[in-house]
Amino acid sequence: MAFFSTRTGQFTYFSLQVGEPLWRGKKVLDFGGNIGNILLDTNSTIDEDRYWCLDLDRDAIEKGRASFPKSHWFFYNRYCFAFNPYGIPHLPIPDPGQTFDYIVAYSVFTNTTETDMLELVSQLEALLARNGALAFTFIDPYHFSSPGRNNFQWRLELERERGNISDSEMKDIAGRAQGAKWFMLVNGGDLYLETEDIRPYEPEQQKTCYVYHTEEYMKTLFPRATILPPVNNEMQHCCIIRKS
Ligand SMILES: C[S@@+](CC[C@H](N)C(=O)[O-])C[C@H]1O[C@@H](n2cnc3c(N)ncnc32)[C@H](O)[C@@H]1O
Repeated sequence: MAFFSTRTGQFTYFSLQVGEPLWRGKKVLDFGGNIGNILLDTNSTIDEDRYWCLDLDRDAIEKGRASFPKSHWFFYNRYCFAFNPYGIPHLPIPDPGQTFDYIVAYSVFTNTTETDMLELVSQLEALLARNGALAFTFIDPYHFSSPGRNNFQWRLELERERGNISDSEMKDIAGRAQGAKWFMLVNGGDLYLETEDIRPYEPEQQKTCYVYHTEEYMKTLFPRATILPPVNNEMQHCCIIRKS
C-alpha cells in the first residue's frame, strides 16, 4: 500500500545537525526520501535539480516526480518489513552515477533491521563526495523528547490509543524493554530484544517495525560518527559520518 509522508521540517533538522544552512550548489541524496518533503521546508536551500531521491515506495517516487520534475527520482525494490514486504532482500543500492555532498535519511533506519542499517550505511558512505556528509536519524528509546515520558513510552501510548495493545500489555512491554541496547517493536505489540530472529509474518501481516537504538549503542556501531541529540523539537537523534 502506498505511503505518502506528511512530515515536514527535515531540511531544518539536517541543516542544524550538520551545521550548514546553505546547501545551494550541493548534490543531495535523500535516501528513503518518500515524496521529497524536504524540498517543501521553507528553510530549504536545496536546488531542485541537484536533488536525488531513492525510495522503495513506487507510488511515492511517482508523486515526488510529479511535484518536482527537475529532481531525480528512483524506485529501489529492496525488501523492507513495513514498507516493501514483496521487495528483494539485500538488493544493493543502484549506482546513481555520481557522488553526493549530502546524503540524508530521515526516519529510515528507524524502520529497518540493524543488519540492513549497517549494510546500507556502508553502501551510502561509498557514495559520498570528498568532504561530504552522511546524516541519518535513529530513535533512542530512553530519551525524553517531551517532559514526563520517554520516546518508547510515547510510541506505546500511541499503540494503546490505536487499540493494538491494552494498558497492561503496554506496561509489560515497557518493563521488558528496560535496559536493552536495541530492540524492535513489530506490528504494535511484538517486542524483540536485541535480536532479528523474529517469527514468520506473511507479507500482508507486515504492518510496522519500529527499531530503537540507544545513543551509547550507536556509538559502538559507528565509532567514526558524530552522534547528536535531537534538535528542532524532534525526537530523533542524528548520526553523522563525514568523508575527509
Ligand atoms: C517514515 S518514512 C520517512 C520518509 C521521509 N524521509 C520523510 O521524512 O518524509 C520512511 C521512508 O523510508 C523508506 N525506506 C525504508 N527502508 C528503505 C530502504 N531500505 N531504502 C530506501 N527507502 C527506504 C520508506 O519507503 C519510507 O518512504
